[in-house]
Amino acid sequence: MNNSLSENYKSKIKRVLITEEEINTAIKRVAEDINNSYNGKPILLVSILKGAFVFMADLCRNIIVPCEIGFMVAKSYYDGTVSSGNVDITMDLSQDLTKYHVIIVEDIIDTGRTLKEVFEILKSRNPLSLKVITLLDKPSRRLVDFTADVSLFTIPDLFVIGYGLDCGEYYRNLPYIAEYQE
Ligand code: IMP
Ligand code: MG
Repeated sequence: MNNSLSENYKSKIKRVLITEEEINTAIKRVAEDINNSYNGKPILLVSILKGAFVFMADLCRNIIVPCEIGFMVAKSYYDGTVSSGNVDITMDLSQDLTKYHVIIVEDIIDTGRTLKEVFEILKSRNPLSLKVITLLDKPSRRLVDFTADVSLFTIPDLFVIGYGLDCGEYYRNLPYIAEYQE
């Protein structure tokens, strides 16, 4: 047995795209913006499982103003291999959104379909405000018009793994973002 995570996943890691240090630096910067602009306001951080769970954990621990967290599970329907844009919420939030400034915390925006749907659903519940923070953005893949308020890293059209992102449910526990070796 190999004794390091990178060794165990080695054959599927093409290269490290974003290091732990780069991720941490970017998260601290974003958290500071939240600390400054949301001070004294009721904040609810919402992430869509599973991909954003690591980002959510690190982001919320760098936020020093009181905040609540919530999770949703959204299932996207596909016509063959193409996302149909229909999203079903299979696990929902318990909070009444009219009481919160809601920040959606997402791992990656690809076609934009999932997040656009989730955004519209949450907006219809009348939160005090609604913003989107995404760790990664692949704008070249967009099929619907959707832009996050904050994007930590813009990446080219590559399939990436690690830091919560998976391929076939593996690699979520890598501490950095890597390009997947097909
Ligand atoms: P979309 O924006 O509706 O196309 O879907 C975005 C979702 O697809 C993300 O939340 C991820 O779960 C998944 N996804 C998109 N690109 C990647 C990638 O490069 N690696 C891992 N998951 C990805
Ligand atoms: Mg996701």
